Amino acid sequence: MNITGNTIFIPGATSGIGLALARRLKSRGNTVIVGGRRAEVLDELRDQGFGAVRIDTSDPQSITDAAAQVIAEYPDLNCLVTMAGVMLPEDWHTPEGFLETAEHTVTTNLLGPIRLIAAFIQQLQSLPEATIITVSSGLASVPLSRTPTYCASKAAIHSLSEAIRLQLADSSVQVIELVPPAVRTGLGDTSRNPRAVPLDDFADDVITLLETEPDAHEILVEQVKFQRYAERRGEYDTAVAVINGGARS
Ligand SMILES: NC(=O)c1ccc[n+]([C@@H]2O[C@H](COP(=O)([O-])OP(=O)(O)OC[C@H]3O[C@@H](n4cnc5c(N)ncnc54)[C@H](OP(=O)(O)O)[C@@H]3O)[C@@H](O)[C@H]2O)c1
Repeated sequence: MNITGNTIFIPGATSGIGLALARRLKSRGNTVIVGGRRAEVLDELRDQGFGAVRIDTSDPQSITDAAAQVIAEYPDLNCLVTMAGVMLPEDWHTPEGFLETAEHTVTTNLLGPIRLIAAFIQQLQSLPEATIITVSSGLASVPLSRTPTYCASKAAIHSLSEAIRLQLADSSVQVIELVPPAVRTGLGDTSRNPRAVPLDDFADDVITLLETEPDAHEILVEQVKFQRYAERRGEYDTAVAVINGGARS
């Protein structure tokens, strides 16, 4: 991906990683359209020079409507970042402890990106250079016991990204998987996690990697390699213990 001159839609950019990347991408000469459910935040971001579109990625109709609006207003749109996600705790000892949360997590974290890509794939393929950036997690490789369906949804996003990259290799669409480690945002309990990376440091590193490795399949900051390559190193059990608050590495 060439990091300048794009028109980029980021549903899930009203806060956290999405907003931090939106600001940096805008300052690098991209047109950036942010999306999310919070209308007042979208209004503020519109005042700051972003495009802003209200979207609920857990609602198929909202995705269809927002995609039509974005494509009509920004016919040069050539990059989709499927950022929106939730991370919610579950207790699998009883169905009441997890089922509703699990279904909501799959709808937002897995069906959301799938439906977004469906809504934009023809637009993206119509342009000579286009990019889909999916967002998984280090927890796709090493799970956290508190959030089973979150981990499963991110493992699914990893697998999906790998497969659609292969399928779309004959098209103009590049598929990049952003794999964040724990980053200090409003997501889950990341603001209290001592292992979480400061948001600005993470966002700066992501932009540097996008710039210096334009053909990368995955964007892996240093801090996530502990999880991403744990199994490859033969250290999976240790990594599970560390991530779940057990032994320190
Ligand atoms: N922070 C981490 O440690 C970490 C680690 C690995 C991966 N990630 C992934 O990074 C992505 C961003 O997370 P974050 O840490 O930046 O969290 P965040 O600060 O809570 O931001 C989440 C964003 O997603 C949007 N969102 C959530 N549900 C939505 C829905 N149904 N429809 C539309 N937008 C929705 C929120 O916007 P509204 O509230 O305005 O709708 C917000 O802009 C997620 O996919 C997350 O899984 C985060």
